[in-house]
Amino acid sequence: MKYAVRYYTKTGNTKRLAEAVAGALGVEALPVSEPVAEPVDLLFLGNSYYAFNIDPEVRDFIKSLDREKVGKIVNFGSAAMLKSTRKKVKAEADKVGIPTDEREFHCRGEFKGIHKGRPNEDDVKAAADFARSFTAK
Ligand SMILES: Cc1cc2nc3c(=O)[nH]c(=O)nc-3n(C[C@H](O)[C@H](O)[C@H](O)COP(=O)(O)O)c2cc1C
Repeated sequence: MKYAVRYYTKTGNTKRLAEAVAGALGVEALPVSEPVAEPVDLLFLGNSYYAFNIDPEVRDFIKSLDREKVGKIVNFGSAAMLKSTRKKVKAEADKVGIPTDEREFHCRGEFKGIHKGRPNEDDVKAAADFARSFTAK
């Protein structure tokens, strides 16, 4: 199995999760400004809600993906109030014909003093465990 990790972050929360995910998979966590050049089975995509939507940069990144090179997208991230961004990511991924895995990782993310310290150590560990579950036989 080949993996890649890309993330978009405004305040660093998704980067922390992405580094945990990437560490568990033995790859590097890179920002969405880095294209996926090599074919991968699973692309772990870290993203969040900003004003009730995923960031346009995340949408553009998904649009730029080559369905011949990306087997499946695995969504992960955090948000202050809303749950998963998976549906938003899936809507974009569907347009380029790339499946989105049913499984995802989501936790609380600090925003203006709400959920202070999140993602915390437990969240980071849970994100790594989530990623590792894809590598287990
Ligand atoms: C500009 C901005 C807008 C946000 N809007 C929402 C929102 O609409 N709903 C929500 O649940 N969280 C919202 N949040 C909280 C983020 O989703 C949360 O802080 C997340 O952990 C940020 O990840 P990041 O540090 O990787 O950017 C917002 C955060 C920022 C900075």
